[in-house]
Amino acid sequence: MKVICPQCNKEHNVDESKIPAGATVAQCRACGHRFPLFEPAPEKEAPKAGPRRIGVTLSKGGVGKTTTSVNLAAGLALAGYKVLLVDTDTQGQASYLLGLKPKVGLTELVTGELPASETIIQARENLWLLAGGRALAGVKRIIDRKDFGGELTLVEALEPIENDYDYIIVDTSPGWDPLTVNVLFYVYELITPVSLEVMTLQGLVEFLKSLSSIQKYRSDVTLNYILPTFLDKRIKNPDAILDKLKDLYGEYVCTPIRYNVRLSESPAYGKTIFEYAPGSHGSQDYRDLVRKITGRPELFS
Ligand SMILES: Nc1ncnc2c1ncn2[C@@H]1O[C@H](COP(=O)(O)OP(=O)(O)OP(=O)(O)O)[C@@H](O)[C@H]1O
Ligand SMILES: [Mg+2]
Repeated sequence: MKVICPQCNKEHNVDESKIPAGATVAQCRACGHRFPLFEPAPEKEAPKAGPRRIGVTLSKGGVGKTTTSVNLAAGLALAGYKVLLVDTDTQGQASYLLGLKPKVGLTELVTGELPASETIIQARENLWLLAGGRALAGVKRIIDRKDFGGELTLVEALEPIENDYDYIIVDTSPGWDPLTVNVLFYVYELITPVSLEVMTLQGLVEFLKSLSSIQKYRSDVTLNYILPTFLDKRIKNPDAILDKLKDLYGEYVCTPIRYNVRLSESPAYGKTIFEYAPGSHGSQDYRDLVRKITGRPELFS
C-alpha cells in the first residue's frame, strides 16, 4: 500500500504483510515525522438529500455499541428529529433496551415478507425501531447465497423507506459478518466506541484495516467519531489510552462517556438513560454526544 507522510508529502510503498500486528504509528524515512498509520478518512459532508446514515460499530464486543445506538437515537428523538434505529445484531438487544418485544423487524423487511409499514414499530415519540434478533441469521444466509450484490442487501431494503427520517442509526453486532459489511455499504458516517476499561486500541486498529478494505469499493463511508466509553477516573487509569487515542486521532475523538452504573441498570427497566436517570452522568454524556453529532451546542439547555 502507499503511505504518504503528512509532513513532507513523501510517498512510501509499504509491504502490508511486514507491518507488525498492533502497529499504530509510522515514521517517515525521509523526514523522521511520526504519524498514525491508519488515519480516519477526512470528514465529508453527508449528501444533502436524505437522512444522515450513521453506523455504530467496532468488531470488539461489549464496548457500548448498543448503549450508544439506543441512547443517541433516543437523544436525537428528544431533540425533535425523526429517527429510525436499525438493529443488525442477532442478539436483538436494542429492543430490550427500549423495553419492547417486537415480533417482526429487519428480517421481514429484507425478505419482503411484510410491507415496510408493518416491520417498523414506533418506540417513542419521534423514534422508530427496525428490530434485530435471531431471525437475522436467515438474512445472512440470503446475503451469502446471492451471486453478486449481496453487500447491497441493506441498501436495497432501507433506501425506499429512509426519507421518512432525519437520522438512521444502525447498531451492529460484535465481530465481522455479512451484515456488518452491508452496514458499511449503507452508512456514510461511523461512530466507533472504544472502551477505556479494556485495551481495545488493538481492536480499533484491526477495525480500521477492515474498514479501509471496504473503502476501496465504497469511499463514501468515513469514520467520523471515535467515542471513548467506560471512562472511570476513580478505579482505573484510562488516561494512557485516552491520551494515545487523542495523539493518534485528534479531533475525531469525542468527549468520553463516563462509566455510569445507571447506564448498566437502565436496560433492565426497558428505559433509555434520559427516562431512567435524566440527571445522571450517563444522561449528560449522551446529551453531549447528541450536541456534537448535530453540531447544535444549544440543545437541551
Ligand atoms: N458507560 C457505561 N457505564 C457503565 N456500564 C455501561 C456503559 N456503557 C455500557 N454499559 C454496560 O456494558 C454492557 C455492554 O454494553 P453494550 O451492550 O452497549 O455493548 P455492545 O458493544 O453493544 O456489546 P455487544 O458487542 O455484545 O453487542 C451492558 O451491560 C451495558 O449496560
Ligand atoms: Mg450490542
